[in-house]
Amino acid sequence: MFYDDVMQSVAYIRQQIKAEPVLGIVLGSGLGSLVDAMEERESIPYKDIPFFPQSNLAGHADQLVFGRIAGTKVVAMQGRFHYYEGFTMKQVTYPIFVLKQLGVKDLIVTNACGGINPSFVPGDLMLIDDYINTLGNNPLIGPNDERFGPRFPDMSDPYAKELRAFAAATARQQGIEHRHGVYAIFSGPCFESAAEIRALHVMGADAVGMSTVPETIVANYLGMRVLGIACITNMATGIAKTKHSHEEVLAIANRSSRALCQWVQTMIEKWPA
Ligand code: HPA
Repeated sequence: MFYDDVMQSVAYIRQQIKAEPVLGIVLGSGLGSLVDAMEERESIPYKDIPFFPQSNLAGHADQLVFGRIAGTKVVAMQGRFHYYEGFTMKQVTYPIFVLKQLGVKDLIVTNACGGINPSFVPGDLMLIDDYINTLGNNPLIGPNDERFGPRFPDMSDPYAKELRAFAAATARQQGIEHRHGVYAIFSGPCFESAAEIRALHVMGADAVGMSTVPETIVANYLGMRVLGIACITNMATGIAKTKHSHEEVLAIANRSSRALCQWVQTMIEKWPA
């Protein structure tokens, strides 16, 4: 049973590590350097955790990293699971169920994505206000286990308003420039067509990527508050003058990761529990 699998993963992690994280961080492509800011680091490879899915994408280390940032106990997911890898939606979001049972209350999700809003430029950081799920799939489809959450969870504030306000205020104090907008998920693995991007623009999307939304849905279902930060690594198809590549995505994400790390680190120093 799914619940028992999750509890076995949790039991294994607790055997290995004493940590009691209260804040979870999902690190997107090229954004893994935030773990360097963590003290008293201990990590567990995904492959060692019973029932944990496994992936092999360049730019992902595939481990849970436990530690502290400014005294706050955090756990970072270095490497996430994507729908386009062939994982089920339950597998994509499996780690979020585990984090919740480890005691995590709030989740910071980051990603690399394409900019649709014409005022954006590659390298911009975007606070995610809301999401659009175009997958035609949802991680909560299937029998509901009330021990996790309700059958019909509310999604009126998927990226908690108070955390967004807090993030914006922190960015202002730190002089970190940022945008905000709506993030749409497209399944991938191919980049979108130009017509798809025009359609997403009409739908109200400011950015497009291949992750984050499944984790956001599950975290809300589990009663966690979510903060989402997207790194615009390229302009989306039809807006960009050149063809896309994963290498370009990683290069720009790496370049933006310093500002992102500074932003997240200073937020954690004053995190509104
Ligand atoms: N589209 C989808 N996913 C992405 C993109 C994009 O343009 N850039 C980085 N991830």
